[in-house]
Amino acid sequence: MTGPKPGQKTVLVTGYDDVHVTQHINHADTPPIVAVHPEASAIAYVLSITDKKCRLIDDHVLGLHVIATARRPEVLAELAELGMSTVALDVTDAESIKKCHDEVAKINGGKLDILVNNAALYEVDDAQPKSDRGRTHTHPALDISLPDVRATFETNVFSIMAMVQAFIDQLIAARGLIINISSLSSITPYLFGSVYCASKAAVSAYSRTLRLELAPFGVRVMVSMTGAVKSNTASQGHRILPENSLYQRVKHIFEWRLVFSQNNSTMDTATFSKRLVADSLRSERPAWLRSLFGRPDWFWYGGLARLAWYGHCLGEGVVDSVSWNKFRMPEIMKLIGEGPAQKKQK
Ligand SMILES: NC(=O)c1ccc[n+]([C@@H]2O[C@H](COP(=O)([O-])OP(=O)(O)OC[C@H]3O[C@@H](n4cnc5c(N)ncnc54)[C@H](OP(=O)(O)O)[C@@H]3O)[C@@H](O)[C@H]2O)c1
Repeated sequence: MTGPKPGQKTVLVTGYDDVHVTQHINHADTPPIVAVHPEASAIAYVLSITDKKCRLIDDHVLGLHVIATARRPEVLAELAELGMSTVALDVTDAESIKKCHDEVAKINGGKLDILVNNAALYEVDDAQPKSDRGRTHTHPALDISLPDVRATFETNVFSIMAMVQAFIDQLIAARGLIINISSLSSITPYLFGSVYCASKAAVSAYSRTLRLELAPFGVRVMVSMTGAVKSNTASQGHRILPENSLYQRVKHIFEWRLVFSQNNSTMDTATFSKRLVADSLRSERPAWLRSLFGRPDWFWYGGLARLAWYGHCLGEGVVDSVSWNKFRMPEIMKLIGEGPAQKKQK
């Protein structure tokens, strides 16, 4: 493992997944291009390709030293081989966060330039085989279990608050940047994803106020309004609609929705990641110029992000009506809603 060079900026990323690295040597005089499996954790992907040994596609990615964190040792081993510093971290465990903070301070001398809060989604039972490790929190609101909801909020929301509190000393020392990975689902009704939507809306709202509170200390807050991006998420073990669910008659739509983010204008991971890194490293401008000419406070990118942004600007009614059709509500209404025959009987 190599540490940062003197003066090199450091970035800490939570929630790395397997990166499945392969290296392609180009020419004798250029460093190898490191290709990461396209379904590796979307956001983590980018930042895995930064050190001097690796040259990604975009040169401005170079220069950052990545401190990658994950909870699985095999993932950490793979990342260490890439030249990154690696630290074990379970973002839902206070003791693990504290240990991580202290280890990171040894690596970066107590100054952290960028914290990327990327980990999300899973409620993992480590006793389960890998295929059952992660299940996206896609469930009709009527079928959720509260312990699952709490686990999702632990990972998606409370862990971010804990990470910010834990690392604020290092971020202030560097006048650093926090990047919180939110989602378009924070502003759109994402059928059968009420819990996930609520958790991401909480991330966006929290970040918006955090930005004000950290401004006096020179720490900036950026939110990624992430659209559909290729990732492991939808290929993990899937939820099953409970036998007694009121939505059994639209089970096929539930199953279609489980993989929606991977089949609808899904952006490839590299394109998304490159742009996130590029935008986060843009120069700072006054707030009113920022989204056009500098590092944006709100980063809208990924499949369907542009559509959602337009809808967001036009108003909630537009977002609701586009979502109604996008998520096949007319079909659902026909199959389980109050059809014309039932209305007549009244
Ligand atoms: N892909 C999309 O279309 C999309 C769209 C909108 C937003 N996003 C957001 O983008 C981020 C990355 O998601 P992704 O799509 O790349 O999914 P992903 O591949 O499933 O990545 C999620 C990562 O979080 C890690 N994680 C979960 N619980 C953790 C914990 N307690 N401690 C440490 N790490 C933990 C997982 O690690 P394990 O392998 O150990 O479980 C996994 O590496 C998430 O915040 C997600 O909400 C993604």
